[in-house]
This record gives sequence, C-alpha cells and structure tokens, in this order.
Amino acid sequence: KTRNMIQTGILTVSDRCSKGEAIDESGSNLKKIIVSGELFQGEVINYECVPDDKEVIKETLLDWCEKDLNLIITTGGTGFAPRDVTPEAVREIIEKEAPALSVQMITESLKVTPLAMLSRPVCGILVRTLIVTLPGSKKGSEECLRFIAPGIRHAVDLLV
Ligand code: MTE
Repeated sequence: KTRNMIQTGILTVSDRCSKGEAIDESGSNLKKIIVSGELFQGEVINYECVPDDKEVIKETLLDWCEKDLNLIITTGGTGFAPRDVTPEAVREIIEKEAPALSVQMITESLKVTPLAMLSRPVCGILVRTLIVTLPGSKKGSEECLRFIAPGIRHAVDLLV
C-alpha cells in the first residue's frame, strides 16, 4: 500500500471561538503539530470552527467525510456541560465505533490528570474516514493526539 499524506480535517467545536469571543488556540496548535510531520505524514485539508450545536457538527463532519478525508480530529465539547454534544454528534454518524482509541486516550490522560475522567471521547469510522474526538483545551487536545498518534498511520492504511 502507498503511504500517502494523511488527509486531515480539524474541527474545533466551541461556541466562544465560533462567535469570535475566543481565539482557537487548540485547533491551530493541532494544525501546527500535524503539518510539522512529527507524529505522522499529514496535511490539513479542512480546518473550521463551529458552535456546540449537534446538527451543525454532524453536517460539517458528513460534508468532510464525503470529501474522502482520511482523518477528522475534533477538539472540544466532550465534557459534561449541557452544551457539550460532540460525542453524541459523532456517534450518530459513524458506522463503526473504535473504542480502543478512546480507551488509549483515557488511560494515558488519567496518568496526567484525574480530570480526564470528565472527557467522553467517541472515536469511529464513517466509510473511509476515521473520526476522533479530543478534549477542548490546548493542553488536553495535544496530549490526546500524541497518545493515539502511534496507531493513526496503520488505521488510515486499513481504511483505504
Ligand atoms: N485530557 C488530557 N490528556 N489532558 C487534560 O488536560 N482535561 C480534562 C479532560 N481531558 C484534560 C484531558 C478536562 S479539564 C475536561 S473538562 C475534559 O477533558 C473535557 O473537555 P472538553 O469539554 O473541552 O472537551
């Protein structure tokens, strides 16, 4: 199999960032890490910020999956707040869940902070696209991306 660049989408889910009330430090940091190539050979095809709205999240993810992205990374909206609905949006569109990616994130994150128990990641596959949900903070999202990075190349190769 050819080892192409992993075509990646980064979706920041945040009411405040989408309204321009906060700067999307998490999404831009994830973009920087992916483009650097230190984790895997990836390029960022789509990068957007949407509010914590389940239908908007679903529509954006479905649109990106139709473009045959290999990987979609969301950041934010995985917690316990009433408007945190990213996991629910992802669960409604994936065909297969990939729970071990979530287990890996949670297992490693709990070694960093007990507050990792407040993230509810859902990871899974829609057709040829792997979708993973990272927490919203810059620190938490970077840590979780690093924790699952060792599995990403192989995962993406299996989906092509
Ligand atoms: N995971 C890691 N690795 N590092 C972190 O700092 N923060 C936690 C958790 N997961 C964190 C983490 C916190 S404080 C929260 S509230 C949850 O992720 C949910 O974050 P979210 O609602 O922004 O998605």
